[in-house]
Amino acid sequence: MKELYRRVSEGLAPGDLPFMNYGYAEPRAGNYDWIRPEDRHHKYHFSLARRVLNGIVLHGKAVLEVGSGRGGNCDYLARYSDAASIRGVEPCWENVAAASHALTRHRIRFVCGDAASLPFADNTFDVVLNIESSHCYPDFAAFLAEVRRVLRPGGALAYADIWFLNTLPYDWPARLRALESCDLRIEQEEDISEAVFEALKQEDGLSGTLRQLEGDANRELFSQLRRGNEAIRLHLAAAQCRYRRWILRHP
Ligand SMILES: C[S@@+](CC[C@H](N)C(=O)[O-])C[C@H]1O[C@@H](n2cnc3c(N)ncnc32)[C@H](O)[C@@H]1O
Repeated sequence: MKELYRRVSEGLAPGDLPFMNYGYAEPRAGNYDWIRPEDRHHKYHFSLARRVLNGIVLHGKAVLEVGSGRGGNCDYLARYSDAASIRGVEPCWENVAAASHALTRHRIRFVCGDAASLPFADNTFDVVLNIESSHCYPDFAAFLAEVRRVLRPGGALAYADIWFLNTLPYDWPARLRALESCDLRIEQEEDISEAVFEALKQEDGLSGTLRQLEGDANRELFSQLRRGNEAIRLHLAAAQCRYRRWILRHP
């Protein structure tokens, strides 16, 4: 999985593909009014980040995104919240370099690192964000333990991903048990499969962006990614996987 994301980054300019998630389609077009006109082409991704962070206070907070990819969610946080500081951690250095190059806002910093061994001291963050990255983690329980370690007491994990996808080699019930029995308290839990399915259907969503970025060098990989998106959409339609979000609180 890590290798796949590294290959995606090859040949892209730093500002290309800032979001690598499926997005979230609002039930009504008017629900995008809060997004500035210059950001509307990323509306499904902005909406996913906002939905995942629903109910979290960001004012003056230290925020970390684990699996920050090419920096889109951190950019959203920097421009649409008044968080005090924003860090992104990501194992693929090509992504770290692209995000650092594209986003020079002073509150944002990106570093290389792995979810199972976060390069931060204990009690460093008030909020940890994790969007569509945990399906890459072989040791999900280690990720949860690391989040608890770097969160301050009272801090929150805003978490979302695809679940129960049988093409991934995981014991999904065991992962769910790890989530439910970790040392973080579940505060919110929501199935957002339908909204993610709708976003995947849209021509101006992730597949459209991939099509625009397709060139001779990446044609095979990007058309494979678009077929992958289509497969996820069909799995969601057939309820063969789910897309879920949680808010978990450090007690
Ligand atoms: C689908 S992308 C999502 C990126 C970003 N969160 C977003 O919403 O655009 C998944 C990301 O997880 C990262 N990732 C893979 N394995 C990881 C690990 N062990 N620890 C942290 N991040 C990881 C990948 O490099 C990739 O950037």
